[in-house]
Amino acid sequence: MKLEYIADTLLNEASAPADLRAALNAFAQLCSDVGGVVPDPSFDAWADDSLLNNGVAISPEAAAHCVTDTQRSAVFIRAAHAAITTAKQRFTTSPIEVLYAGCGPFATLLLPLLTKFNPGELVVHFLDIHQRSLDSVALLIGHFDLQGHRISYIQDDACHYQHSSNPHVIIAETMQKSLEQEPQFAVTANLAPQLHARGIFIPQRIEVALCLAKLEAERAALQQGDALDPNALQAAGERHALATVLCLTPEHAATLKQQARQNSHGLLELNPIHVTLPAITDLNTFDAVLFTRIQVFEQHRLLDYESEITLPLRCSGLTPLQAGDHYRASLQIGSYPKFSVTRICDS
Ligand SMILES: C[S@@+](CC[C@H](N)C(=O)[O-])C[C@H]1O[C@@H](n2cnc3c(N)ncnc32)[C@H](O)[C@@H]1O
Repeated sequence: MKLEYIADTLLNEASAPADLRAALNAFAQLCSDVGGVVPDPSFDAWADDSLLNNGVAISPEAAAHCVTDTQRSAVFIRAAHAAITTAKQRFTTSPIEVLYAGCGPFATLLLPLLTKFNPGELVVHFLDIHQRSLDSVALLIGHFDLQGHRISYIQDDACHYQHSSNPHVIIAETMQKSLEQEPQFAVTANLAPQLHARGIFIPQRIEVALCLAKLEAERAALQQGDALDPNALQAAGERHALATVLCLTPEHAATLKQQARQNSHGLLELNPIHVTLPAITDLNTFDAVLFTRIQVFEQHRLLDYESEITLPLRCSGLTPLQAGDHYRASLQIGSYPKFSVTRICDS
């Protein structure tokens, strides 16, 4: 499969899931053959992950494996295309400068799109902590004959990196579900203030919501092919939204970081949200769950269960569920970001 065809298939909203999967598999195979990095989920191969101050930068092999998260890859690629196209309309006099942080070895969210723009239209900066990933991207750019674009490769930590100008578009996907483990929050807090005043940061909004839900029943329904509509579940009393525990937007990320405080364990955490468990029938048949929803750009969104990074995460800190109990929930930032939920004793 040619890269142009792969890009067209991924951008086509009418492509069937099987066609998207085939296009992404073909992309991964091409990239592996040329760049030498073989995708691997790396669940037991942490050796090449980099444990940074603000989260784990997964190994080049694990980053390559992200390509197979079909809906994630397709939606981010469509969003990046829409964002660059919008930026071209906003900034008509200069090439569009794109900073892609955490590009991984295949630069999945941007590389297929480079076939859609003429040389001179874009200035592209690939940034990753892993030199091996940047070396692979450089091989791919050469192989696909994309050197006509002005391209630079930056090996650095995106949580501290200072760019020499204000990019029109910044793309960063360094996250897992519920913003756990990887440094998406810190990357956003560092890079978003460096964006051009009318620029576009991708993703535009990440929301993590604490809910009561019946996870087994939801998974069973999905396996049977039923669509899950959170509003319908809520109306039927099968889900109860408790609180939005974090809304991460590029506009507010740096302020959220400045407001972070040390908790009683000496760990830095964002402003906590307070939650009281409601008195609902059969409360103990529910699970406390964190749902992650991502507005990547405008209508390009990833909702519950649609991708690995928007899968629900069971939140054991609230069990046993008891009506009237008070909790505080906040994102702990630092070397292993994760939500911490603690019970507030009435005394
Ligand atoms: C989840 S993978 C995503 C790879 C690719 N962007 C994609 O969407 O398929 C995250 C990538 O970000 C890189 N990364 C994570 N934290 C980083 C940091 N603080 N600075 C630079 N790169 C980082 C990792 O090395 C990895 O390549």
